[in-house]
Amino acid sequence: MSVPDLHALLRRHWGYSKFRPKQESIVNAILSGRDAAIVMPTGGGKSLCYQLPAVAMQRTCVVISPLIALMQDQAANLREMGIEAAFLNSALEFSQVRETMQRAERGGYQLLYLSPERIVREDTLRWLQRVPVGFFAIDEAHCISEWGHEFRPEYRQLSLLRERFPDIPIAAFTASATRVVRHDILAQLHLEHPACVVMSFHRPNLRYIVHECSEKGSTQQQNMLLAAVEHYTEGNIIIYAPTIKSVEATTEWLVDQGVPAIAYHGRMDSAERARNQEAWMNGDPRVLVGTLAFGLGINKPDVRAVIHLSLPKSLEQYYQEAGRAGRDGLPADCVLLWRKRDLGLLAHFIEQVQDDAERQRAWQRYRVMREFVEERECRHRSICLHFGETPSWQRCDACDVCGVSVDWTKAKPRPKKTVAPAKVTRAEMIAEQGSLGVALREWRKELSKSTNVPAYVIIHDTTIAALCDHRPETLEELLKTPGIGERKAEKFGEQILALIAANRN
Ligand SMILES: Nc1ncnc2c1ncn2[C@@H]1O[C@H](COP(=O)(O)OP(=O)(O)OP(=O)(O)O)[C@@H](O)[C@H]1O
Ligand SMILES: [Mg+2]
Ligand SMILES: [Zn+2]
Repeated sequence: MSVPDLHALLRRHWGYSKFRPKQESIVNAILSGRDAAIVMPTGGGKSLCYQLPAVAMQRTCVVISPLIALMQDQAANLREMGIEAAFLNSALEFSQVRETMQRAERGGYQLLYLSPERIVREDTLRWLQRVPVGFFAIDEAHCISEWGHEFRPEYRQLSLLRERFPDIPIAAFTASATRVVRHDILAQLHLEHPACVVMSFHRPNLRYIVHECSEKGSTQQQNMLLAAVEHYTEGNIIIYAPTIKSVEATTEWLVDQGVPAIAYHGRMDSAERARNQEAWMNGDPRVLVGTLAFGLGINKPDVRAVIHLSLPKSLEQYYQEAGRAGRDGLPADCVLLWRKRDLGLLAHFIEQVQDDAERQRAWQRYRVMREFVEERECRHRSICLHFGETPSWQRCDACDVCGVSVDWTKAKPRPKKTVAPAKVTRAEMIAEQGSLGVALREWRKELSKSTNVPAYVIIHDTTIAALCDHRPETLEELLKTPGIGERKAEKFGEQILALIAANRN
């Protein structure tokens, strides 16, 4: 087999001109048939590390991911990029499952997404013997460890894979794993001499701002929240609230204050959740209030702030959730507005845990989380140390301890409209994009309706912004737009160029 030109594939399907750090060496390790264990921060680009080898090797990559709800989007996204992908989960009808399974046996997919529950079923394992599997990719691999913050018992059974498919390489991916969790991943999956890549946990584009709010009512927290939301005038915002009730109350309250916001939680029906998620992904509204589960695996690059209204259960959980900010590498803030009472609540829940060992682990997580917010040590540094990394620096200049102060943290009971936002608002940005921006959004909306593919899967807002900036006139120029690979250019190129021609200023 000839050596695949990885850069050409990267350009053709993803429309990217270069690899992010470590991506190329991980892709090569997988292509050489090795096991792999990868720790790469949120937004670092893990998906590409298993998707690209899958495209290059002409065998099927079986992806195990806990995010059943997102499988469909991921598969749709890949198909838009000209990659054969499918998923099997309980949402499919029997006939669809059968069709997908048959096609998989014929090697019809480059990527196949399965839930952990499904893959360990005896019928699935037997069927997989007939599928030309190139390697298994385990996403969110920290779920395999009891020491991790998101242990899922189904993940434990993945040790079956090595037993049943001794010759097929396994690549495990996670964004947040302490040393103990990393060991657990290697041991549980029986990885053999894996290529190990542990990237730094330090994300210099993020600022961590931790603030203990007073206990009296919720006014101080509310004032700060409102000031913060009004401060970040660009990109999107995620607000994490601890309970479904507080998600609803916070959303309502924000709307009352004139801040368009949308809710997301487990008790909504799935259609409504999907609708809200999509609206937020498209930036209208920019603010989403969710329970802690929201956002895992969501690929929204321009989240400018993640605001927590209570203490998460663990520092890993905090790191992962806060890390959904600034995936595009641009500056973003992670704000933790906690109150003393959060500690009491966490303790209360830990006391309910029946299993002794699990309760001990929960207390351990609690202590780490508490130290993180109460001790005056550089937040960036604390996080690195927690994950077993010793930074060469003592201060970061990008956290509240190291002296970052943002004007809105001083928010007192609000006099009407304080700071006039100097930055461009989304409305202004859209206005600046002129008729072309409007036309592209209209076109995308229509296409989304007629093809039933979410708008942001067709083209991202960032791609629209780039098109409005550069106004390519030829296919060749169009291909230089980030997010437009050969496949998208082939499918939509003419339509996009026609819109650009029709909207010349
Ligand atoms: N080589 C690249 N060039 C430009 N953009 C890239 C590249 N690789 C990945 N990206 C983009 O980076 C973003 C994050 O990628 P991805 O979803 O794979 O992150 P992740 O590491 O899986 O994060 P998480 O832990 O949150 O799931 C995506 O928007 C992706 O398209
Ligand atoms: Mg991911
Ligand atoms: Zn610091």
